[in-house]
Amino acid sequence: MNVVVVGSGIAGLTAALHAHEAGHTVTVVTKGGLGGGCTPLAQGGVAGSYGPGDGPATHAADTISAGAGLCDPAAVDALVADGAARIAELLARGVAFDRAPDGSLARGREAAHAHARILHAGGDATGAAISAALCAAIQRASIPVREGTMLLDLVVEEGRVRGIMVLRDGDTAEIRGDAVILATGGAGQLYAHTTNPPEATGDGIAAALRAGAAVADLEFVQFHPTALPGSPVFLLSEAVRGEGAVLRDQEGRRFVFDSHPDGELAPRDVVARTIARQAARQGAPVHLDATALGADALARRFPTIDRVTRARGFDWSRAPLPVTPAAHYLMGGVVTDRHGRTTIPGLYAVGETARTGVHGANRLASNSLLEGAVFAARAAAALDGPWPAAGDITPCPSPTDTDSAPEALPRFDRAGLQRLLWDEVGLHRTGSGLQRALRIVRGWAVETPSPSDARAHEDRNLLRVAEATIRAALARPVSVGAHHRDDPAPAAPTPAHAPILETA
Ligand code: SIN
Repeated sequence: MNVVVVGSGIAGLTAALHAHEAGHTVTVVTKGGLGGGCTPLAQGGVAGSYGPGDGPATHAADTISAGAGLCDPAAVDALVADGAARIAELLARGVAFDRAPDGSLARGREAAHAHARILHAGGDATGAAISAALCAAIQRASIPVREGTMLLDLVVEEGRVRGIMVLRDGDTAEIRGDAVILATGGAGQLYAHTTNPPEATGDGIAAALRAGAAVADLEFVQFHPTALPGSPVFLLSEAVRGEGAVLRDQEGRRFVFDSHPDGELAPRDVVARTIARQAARQGAPVHLDATALGADALARRFPTIDRVTRARGFDWSRAPLPVTPAAHYLMGGVVTDRHGRTTIPGLYAVGETARTGVHGANRLASNSLLEGAVFAARAAAALDGPWPAAGDITPCPSPTDTDSAPEALPRFDRAGLQRLLWDEVGLHRTGSGLQRALRIVRGWAVETPSPSDARAHEDRNLLRVAEATIRAALARPVSVGAHHRDDPAPAAPTPAHAPILETA
């Protein structure tokens, strides 16, 4: 079978390797270079290495609890059941996870995990180590990689995906395939502050929406509490707080305890909203104080953060760092079953592009690299199997006649879109703010000329995903997980998560 994999993070490369090892002919298509995207930026680790008293069932319980009841338990079971095999595979492919003094794998603990079960590599360079190992494996296997090639659209013929349209060096081309695996990551570039790289413009999700695939849970955007402000913002791993760093307001007070008894290690959405509220109250950023950890420990445990913060003029061993929340991870995406299969035969989605049901309304820290590896391998294993009958999929809310463009539409530019979503579709949401954002985004989508270059295609994708995200947020009038409504409708029931395609 000819398999086209779009994206070169942990999910895309794992899918490509497994498909190749199963005897398929694989082509990897990636917008940037091999080894780009989100994966190499991941500081946090891979959950799923279990010590005494811990195990898959406890990990599943923590995942479901973080997901605020909206996880698909069967998908979570698949995650924790296959996790150990995928971690063993990463080790076998050469990922040097950090070791304890006795030579065993060192396991860290992060917020909302009941046990220490997080593996790291190079301290805070886990994603970079994984990316390097997988890229080397791709090269050893001589899997062709088309770099600098942007996904434009899916080619669907007689209800089945038959390939993709791409843009490369200004020219469009078709790449035929019997199966297409979307692994293009999320859409962090929708927001004014994001830990995602510039490539994260929702290309796969937008293409899937245009092709008519079911997409769900886009309202669940995880904001990481601590990023160093700047251009671009820079992630300050939750593990820094896990090691004892604290958050302080301008009086030096540990203000997060006002919101949650777990303080700095409260769920991510609580910490992020508390930081945003405090920063607005005091009219200045709050600070992450890691000075008690000492210069040597900081440099040893967090070499990447140490290097980048010093390059930006901070000495975090002596003075607290200013922080801002930043869009970090999209829990929703293209609806899949437990084998990456979407509602369009021949189309698979894996990694952040997919909505597997693992994350529910809020992702447990360090579950994303694991999810990428687990479901990519499962998708590759399903390539030869039959396609399931479409289940009961709740489609994204679609445009209605009552939507109208505003009278005075601000001029479109990407920064304006990012500010709009940050303000109205961010940590705090209201019905009126979401409606305003929807009117503006729809107006921009109508007025924006046909894409002429890669950036214009990205803008079209961002507008498409923005509209779907706003509609999803409007359709959920209550707060749950990462989706926080300042104007909840108290009597309204929380809409259940869209049931996924059920397969054997
Ligand atoms: C972090 O290191 O704080 C990010 C880890 C994650 O998002 O899973």
